[in-house]
Amino acid sequence: MKLLITGATGMIGRNIMALAKEKNITVHFLTTQKHKRMDTDKRRGFYWNPKTGEIDEECFEGVDALIHLAGASISKPWTSRNRKEILDSRILSTRLLRKEMERQKIKLKNIICASAIGIYPDSLVEVFDEKSQLVQDNFLQKVTAAWERESHTLAAFGDRLSILRIGLVLAKGEGLLSQLTLPVKLLVGAAFASGKQWQSWIHIRDLSRVFITAIEMDWNGTFNAVAPHPVYQRTLINTLGTALGRPVFLPNIPGFLMKLLMGERAILILGSQKISSQKLLSNGFSFEYDTLNTALKHIFKKKNDILT
Ligand SMILES: NC(=O)c1ccc[n+]([C@@H]2O[C@H](COP(=O)([O-])OP(=O)(O)OC[C@H]3O[C@@H](n4cnc5c(N)ncnc54)[C@H](OP(=O)(O)O)[C@@H]3O)[C@@H](O)[C@H]2O)c1
Repeated sequence: MKLLITGATGMIGRNIMALAKEKNITVHFLTTQKHKRMDTDKRRGFYWNPKTGEIDEECFEGVDALIHLAGASISKPWTSRNRKEILDSRILSTRLLRKEMERQKIKLKNIICASAIGIYPDSLVEVFDEKSQLVQDNFLQKVTAAWERESHTLAAFGDRLSILRIGLVLAKGEGLLSQLTLPVKLLVGAAFASGKQWQSWIHIRDLSRVFITAIEMDWNGTFNAVAPHPVYQRTLINTLGTALGRPVFLPNIPGFLMKLLMGERAILILGSQKISSQKLLSNGFSFEYDTLNTALKHIFKKKNDILT
């Protein structure tokens, strides 16, 4: 099998590439950074630039499946310029893939596109699954909805198209976990607002397996990529403290303060989404890390790692 991965140099993409290597799968990847195109016998990088419409046409050679992850980070301040970059990077990259596949008359076996659970409404009590009604009240919901609409247009170029709505990805030293870890290590970790916001998380290894399984098992449709046991944010911080051997004793940081500091972006820490993983389970996926405890224990497993 040969994969083409966009956004492969990011946190999720690197882990999918590592899993592909374990499974002896050949990977082509598209990058906007020419210097990141390192080639090995099983991996080949190609340049593209969704802003100018440039793409190395050889990237599709012999490819069976596409994994489309590319998108500018949402963790930068949401200035109007960054908002445009966040949206454009997802829409223009998808359009460029479509245009090139159309031009080369390409038909793949599987196309897997990333999305995010940020597409769901914000609720402290409801459980959302793939059939839940969506709203477009905030920036994240608007971006993910537009991104999914664009991704659906790729369906004509694959026998199957899956959209994976990814939850909070837990990976050592990366993503949100890296930002939460330092304060906890320094004994100044705390939850935000009531701390009862639902956090629907997934271990990076399981997420990489979800992407590969979607291809291997020919999934089709929309899937939530989250572990089966979401937790309160307070539980996440406390469990992180336990995994790091650091007690968390500070009171929660008031939500209004975070809104003052972060503006609309505070939704990233104040938002609550309890997301069902039932569809993954009923499609045959089995988690290696299904509880937060096992996930964090694995991530921080070596004693010395706690101090690094
Ligand atoms: N991490 C999470 O918790 C999470 C949760 C839900 C959804 N997701 C989504 O999953 C995808 C991958 O996430 P990640 O955490 O791996 O992100 P990441 O580490 O920020 O990597 C994203 C990659 O996208 C490419 N990219 C960035 N800006 C781009 C642009 N303007 N045009 C084209 N490509 C661009 C970059 O690759 P090059 O520099 O090689 O071009 C970058 O390495 C993202 O779309 C993200 O929104 C992530």
